[in-house]
Amino acid sequence: MPKYFMPTTLLSGKNCIKRHPRHLLHGKKCMIITGKQSAVVSGALGDVTDVLKENNVEYDIYNKITNETGITEIYNLARSMKDDGVEYIIGIGGGSTLDAAKAAAVYAANDIEPMEIFDEKYANKPLTVVCVPTTAGTGSDTTQYVMMTLDDPRKKRSFSSEVCFPYATYLDARYTMTLPVEVTRNTAVDALCHAVESYLNVQASPFSDTVALEAIRLIGQCDAALVAGKFSEADREKLLVAASSGGMAVAHTGLNVVHAMGHQITCTKNVPHGRANGALLVEFIAWCAKADIMRAVDVITAFGSDLSSLKRFMNRVAPMDCEVTEKDIDEWIDNSITDGIAMNCPGTFTHDDERKIYYNALVNKDRKYNVW
Ligand SMILES: [Fe+2]
Repeated sequence: MPKYFMPTTLLSGKNCIKRHPRHLLHGKKCMIITGKQSAVVSGALGDVTDVLKENNVEYDIYNKITNETGITEIYNLARSMKDDGVEYIIGIGGGSTLDAAKAAAVYAANDIEPMEIFDEKYANKPLTVVCVPTTAGTGSDTTQYVMMTLDDPRKKRSFSSEVCFPYATYLDARYTMTLPVEVTRNTAVDALCHAVESYLNVQASPFSDTVALEAIRLIGQCDAALVAGKFSEADREKLLVAASSGGMAVAHTGLNVVHAMGHQITCTKNVPHGRANGALLVEFIAWCAKADIMRAVDVITAFGSDLSSLKRFMNRVAPMDCEVTEKDIDEWIDNSITDGIAMNCPGTFTHDDERKIYYNALVNKDRKYNVW
């Protein structure tokens, strides 16, 4: 029987923080975790602190989170929060920041060593986390997943626990209006990959399908804006809702091989996460069509396109401008990390399939698709 568990309260729309302040209030002392700029520039930090001041909540701000913030830094931050009697956390920013907030919440509530967070078993419930995303991509604000950066070797590792869903998330598209075009494109493509990988997934259910297809549809409605690099407030709202919907979808199905394969491109070629995944997406859909043509067509129809048009869209919005050789592909296959996640594929996924997807996506770029 399909299960759907999503305990995060979503507040959305213009001024949602000021219209629904009570979801921001969970004690007398709070830690705001942010990156260096976006929380201030977007106006989100000001809106949050206004509510905290009006309600006499004491707060500190930790504004040093980046994509590369390591696990020890987050652990030490959580230790100091514990000493200072911090009762809850508000994360304002992109995926790395929201993930840092979710991890700090676990450390601050539990006497564990840094690496024990990956055991995914905690004696105490994490501190309450409220998320205010300022990007529209990762969906961290609606999932139980947390991605962290290990210190040595410096690589990514994730954990997952149902206690790590945020308590509440505020989705105000105004906070994404100042996002640079390239970040907007990369994060939108990432969100599209989340939704497609969830829909073309043996773990999919009617509940995850609903949010996955809506995310694909909303991003498809923004295709012209993404190509032009010009976004209205309505476009920004659609992309933000799509990103959180994509998160809700993968929270229930898990990701698929696109993310596992894209990770190798990101690590070896320094290609942004969304762009690396996007480069593989059309080939993944074409591969899935062999196992389940109807669901592959559902994806393309929801986006409002055909496979060749989707490929052209990807080439314009998320072009792969680095050289990839067959030797690179050989190394990625040797280091393949798809084995565990391939069980989510609608069909048996072999290293040969993996090789074909890499090759057709990154080397044989002029490949033509059937009309659908
Ligand atoms: Fe992603």
